[in-house]
Amino acid sequence: MDFELKTLDAAGAAAEKSDVLLVLVTEGFKAGKDPVSRLVSAALAARDIEPKAGKVLQAYRCEGIAAPRVLLAGAGDGSGKKIQAAVHAAAGVLRTSGAKRLTILLPAASGADGVRAAVCATADSSYVYVTTKSKPEGRELKKVVVGVADAAVQRAAFVRAKAAAAGVEFARELGNLPPNYATPTRLGEEAKKLAREHGFKVEVMGPKEVEKIGMGSFMAVAQGSAQPLRFIVLRHEGGAKGDAPVVLVGKGITFDSGGVSIKPSADMDEMKFDMGGAASVLGTFRALGELKPKINVVGLIPSCENMLDGSAYKPGDVLTSLSGQTIEVLNTDAEGRLILCDALTYAERFKPRYVVDIATLTGACVVALGGVRSGLFATDDALAEQLQAAGDAALDPVWRLPLDDEYADGLKTNFADVANVAGRAAGAVVAAKFLHRFTQNYPWAHLDIAGTAWKSGAGKGSTGRPVGLLLEFLLAQEAGSAAPAKRAGKSARAKAAA
Ligand code: BES
Ligand code: MN
Ligand code: ZN
Repeated sequence: MDFELKTLDAAGAAAEKSDVLLVLVTEGFKAGKDPVSRLVSAALAARDIEPKAGKVLQAYRCEGIAAPRVLLAGAGDGSGKKIQAAVHAAAGVLRTSGAKRLTILLPAASGADGVRAAVCATADSSYVYVTTKSKPEGRELKKVVVGVADAAVQRAAFVRAKAAAAGVEFARELGNLPPNYATPTRLGEEAKKLAREHGFKVEVMGPKEVEKIGMGSFMAVAQGSAQPLRFIVLRHEGGAKGDAPVVLVGKGITFDSGGVSIKPSADMDEMKFDMGGAASVLGTFRALGELKPKINVVGLIPSCENMLDGSAYKPGDVLTSLSGQTIEVLNTDAEGRLILCDALTYAERFKPRYVVDIATLTGACVVALGGVRSGLFATDDALAEQLQAAGDAALDPVWRLPLDDEYADGLKTNFADVANVAGRAAGAVVAAKFLHRFTQNYPWAHLDIAGTAWKSGAGKGSTGRPVGLLLEFLLAQEAGSAAPAKRAGKSARAKAAA
């Protein structure tokens, strides 16, 4: 799908040739003398449309408007969130109309948030999974013109929004692939392809290399599967050579049967989404490849299946992790923390500025936060605040949960340094506390995306979250490292002038 940014007012939008013109109507709508303004004014007066987000009115062959179909959608106060809601509300009509060319007229006062929301929500709501259908009927939308008051002002936001949308879609597609397609080997190949296309450094390791490194915990999870494990290291080196990188670590369980502590059959298919963390790292790199920010980023993905055969690991086994800490397995279904802990120890060798892991880690986090906010845990307040702000800006929000040491009490065992599970209480926090033991040497955050990485039910599918948050966070790192110097320079000049 092709996006184009254009300077358009209501009169310009009326003249724009497309199959559908979507007009986002905000509370402060100011009518001009053009056909689109006349239509909006009449509809508002007749109360056929309200600026309240979510309302949509469809009109057909309106005089003076080039597009045969016009959709008026209430966009409330014009915030990113309301524009997202307006585009989603219009999406149903768009889909059934089979439109190939869409023009969106953003409210005149709309800023970067509006552009981002319009681009991302349009990409999001027009995505159709087709890869394993025999008669694919894919996305019909081919071209989207985003009309703003001044295209030059919004250009940078638009370029970022397109990259974010492409990254989210990349993650969604990988997440949706069936587990017999999206194997650890396939994830490794996707990483290599990304590296080839965008100039990243990449290393994809197999069982032999991982054994040599000493990732005994990760290897144990993989040993019950016929699919060989992969450990992926992707590197974007946009910053200076010595700049400490941000390391992203994504849980890449391509199918989680639970292992010997097997899961119930109902909805077990959804455990193909257990590589959502890995998909979000790859999707973020997809966006980085397009934007090439001047920062260093490392992506680490431990990937394997959690299966059960005669050689599978079992409750009672004691594993030796890369950190040297021994772990007693009390439940083979708590496998995510066992592959992540070794990757988190491996992360130390990059002398990172921050490490952020992303994992569909606990059903308990779904109970706590549902599908609205991802769980956030952090040992560093500045890092937590940046991730919260990035999540808000990208409409990909998180909620911070605690890391008090008392939550780790239940992980004590007589047979190893730590057990991999405790009781049922505060399961998301206990999992985070387990990971905490392996992240003592750098500022660390953990995103539990078990509730947000995919949707169940009729609209079952991957969401691509939290690619939006991660990209926003990383781009803020770039701005943050450049801005202080610039600001100092400016104020020095200002002082000299005074
Ligand atoms: N991948 C699951 C977490 C999960 C479960 C995400 C359901 C979304 C929906 C993870 O590997 C797991 O099985 N966690 C266990 C941990 C428990 C054994 C302590 C869980 O949450 O039940
Ligand atoms: Mn599990
Ligand atoms: Zn899992």
